[in-house]
Amino acid sequence: MGFDDLIAPVDAKEFFENFYERQWVHIEGVNPFQDVFTLGDFETYLFSSRPWEMRDAWTQSGMLAAKYPNGAHYTNISSVEEALELYALGHTIVLPLANYRWPRLSEICGLISDQLDVRANANIYLTPPNSKGFTAHYDMHDVLLLQTEGAKKWVVSKCDKVHLTLTEDITRPEFYTIDPEKDLVNTKTLELKRGQVLYMPRGTIHKGEAVGDRPSIHITFNILPTTWYNLIETVPQLSTQKNHGESSHVTFDDLCDLSAPRVRKKMEIFINKPLLNAECIKDRIFKRKNEIAPGKSFQSVNQIQNISAKTTLARKPNAKFFIFDDKIDPWVSYGGRKIKVPAHFIEATKKTINKKKYTVQDIDGLKVEEEKLLFAQWLIKKGFAVIKEL
Ligand SMILES: [Fe+2]
Repeated sequence: MGFDDLIAPVDAKEFFENFYERQWVHIEGVNPFQDVFTLGDFETYLFSSRPWEMRDAWTQSGMLAAKYPNGAHYTNISSVEEALELYALGHTIVLPLANYRWPRLSEICGLISDQLDVRANANIYLTPPNSKGFTAHYDMHDVLLLQTEGAKKWVVSKCDKVHLTLTEDITRPEFYTIDPEKDLVNTKTLELKRGQVLYMPRGTIHKGEAVGDRPSIHITFNILPTTWYNLIETVPQLSTQKNHGESSHVTFDDLCDLSAPRVRKKMEIFINKPLLNAECIKDRIFKRKNEIAPGKSFQSVNQIQNISAKTTLARKPNAKFFIFDDKIDPWVSYGGRKIKVPAHFIEATKKTINKKKYTVQDIDGLKVEEEKLLFAQWLIKKGFAVIKEL
């Protein structure tokens, strides 16, 4: 199953042209991923991962509880039963970054990541019947919601997105504060049923409420692209590495007169110098990552001695590699990691590493079979490739 199945009957082309970063859409097809996380899974998840033990719920796959109108708060619990109690009292249970604990969610994040060239992660929301956790709000990134249990009524602002500056969440308190009375007048109400998907671009004002006599579970897939802002913000960072003088102080006179030609000139120098060497900017974007799903890496390492010229290898699921052919110190990155490539493997790495499937004998960039086998073993040991067929 692929990304197209997740958004069917809309297809990827239509999604890009009409909706992505533009307009929210309620996708009413029957989704093949609708069983990805059920109410039974919820209990298993709590039992096996004990998410309340995480100090920072949002960055460590922890747990929060949310009840309208107070929103999300940290819990001070230590058992599944206490989580159940919170739920019984009408709290929505929130499990951020659940893709790191639930492989099927990680696979879907991988599909989104691979299709849209973004980072993606998933939060789970369990809401008791006829309850709500949050007031009207907007999110800082695009979201794809998949309903997996019950139904949720969503009130969504029709088309006017809140304009967000392209800074990170840290400055969010300075952003526009929602006034539900004022901001939710131009809205549409929809019911997201099990198996349906709601896509909303960042800044879309929305509020949700579980309806009917069943609890609601929905997964929010958060879509985090490399933006132009991310690209441009690396320019001054790069420049400071080269010591062009950006760390020197700005005089108060210059600050008060930013349109003066002398000040403009200085700023232009700081901006243009690193741009002359645009290839370096690419190096800094290596932090960009596609989400990688688990997939037979350990079994592959175990079989490493048995591979032959006929062995078929596959790229690690959803991984995309960025190769930096620094003549002295070539490296490859994925998942935010930077890994050195032995100089004699760089040609083969360039030609092979991003191929989805290939046999050892078809590896380009190396001539001798023995070298190809060594290269294949290196790919497997580094987790870049897995054995598809011995
Ligand atoms: Fe939201």
